[in-house]
This record gives sequence, C-alpha cells and structure tokens, in this order.
Amino acid sequence: MKRVLITGAAGFLGSHLCDRMIQEGYHVMGMDNLLTGHLGNIEHLFKLKQFEYYHHDVTKFVHVPGKLDYILHFASPASPIDYLQMPIQTLKVGALGTHNLLGLAKDKGARILVASTSEVYGDPLVRPRRKTTGATSTPSSREACTTKPSGSWMPSP
Ligand SMILES: NC(=O)c1ccc[n+]([C@@H]2O[C@H](COP(=O)([O-])OP(=O)(O)OC[C@H]3O[C@@H](n4cnc5c(N)ncnc54)[C@H](O)[C@@H]3O)[C@@H](O)[C@H]2O)c1
Repeated sequence: MKRVLITGAAGFLGSHLCDRMIQEGYHVMGMDNLLTGHLGNIEHLFKLKQFEYYHHDVTKFVHVPGKLDYILHFASPASPIDYLQMPIQTLKVGALGTHNLLGLAKDKGARILVASTSEVYGDPLVRPRRKTTGATSTPSSREACTTKPSGSWMPSP
C-alpha cells in the first residue's frame, strides 16, 4: 500500500485530501499543529487503520516512521487575514516547514507537492485574476506579511 504524508491535515484542503487519498487506497499520515485547523475535520478518520495522526509543527524537524511514497505539503495559514495575524508563523511554515519536508522527501525518496497560493502574485489588477497579468506583490505588501510600508514603523528622528 502506498503511503502519503499530508501536512495541514486538519485544515480545509488537507482534510479533504485525507478523505480522498484514503478512498483511493493510500495509507495516510496526517500532520498538523492546529494553528488554523480543527481536529473535527478529520476525527471521523481516527478509527481507520489506514490513517495515523501526528500532532506536529512542521517548522521543527519532521520524521515519520517507515516508507514514504508521497508528501502533500498543505500546512500554512491561507489568507491575507491570517498572514497579518500570524506573520511569523506564515513565513516560518513557508520557509522552514518546506525545507524540513524537502529534507524528509529526500531522505525517504518520496515525491513532494508543495501547495502555494495565488496571493503570492499580490492584489489582482483585474478580477477574476488572470495568470497573464503578472505579479503585483512588493516586499511591503500584505501578502509579504507586513502591515505597513517598510520604514514607517520607525519614528522620525
Ligand atoms: N483554500 C483555498 O482555496 C486554497 C487555494 C489555493 C492554495 N491554497 C493553499 O493551500 C494550503 C492550505 O490551505 P487551506 O485553505 O486548507 O488552509 P487551512 O488554514 O484550512 O489549513 C492549513 C492547515 O495547516 C496547519 N498548519 C499551519 N501551520 C502549521 C505548522 N507549522 N505545522 C503543522 N501544521 C500547520 C493549520 O493548523 C491548518 O490545519 C495553503 O498553503 C493555501 O495557501 C488554498
């Protein structure tokens, strides 16, 4: 049986992916630290022998026992509202979390899929967003987890 690790398992997309991958015949290891997710999204899976849950922060070293075929990395706050409330956690999970999971994938010889978001392109110039309109993010945008234009937090001399 193929084994898949799903991070952000208690979140919106992760929990549906857990359901789907179990339906597809995978052994699923769900991992989450419940920063924005809820165990209620996956508690119906706890009775299944094809499902294991790891309460873990992926910004710390990540290890799971046994063979691992796939990693679906969906752990991250997922909207500008969350980014502004949790800027450090957002930056850490995108950088350190992804780094740790890439290391695990390399160690286990697993294939990894990393979820991103169209918010990396910044505020859309037209709605619905078109991929051809390019990026509008700047280092001081909400999407970059900053609340004010850079420099304005410092009092004038
Ligand atoms: N929801 C969408 O429509 C959508 C669209 C495109 C991309 N995405 C991307 O998919 C990913 C998941 O989105 P979502 O809507 O399911 O968000 P969500 O907030 O519902 O789920 C994210 C999950 O990650 C967990 N998490 C956060 N930091 C963690 C950490 N350090 N360690 C372990 N778990 C952690 C949270 O507790 C939560 O359960 C995000 O990267 C998001 O940008 C979402």
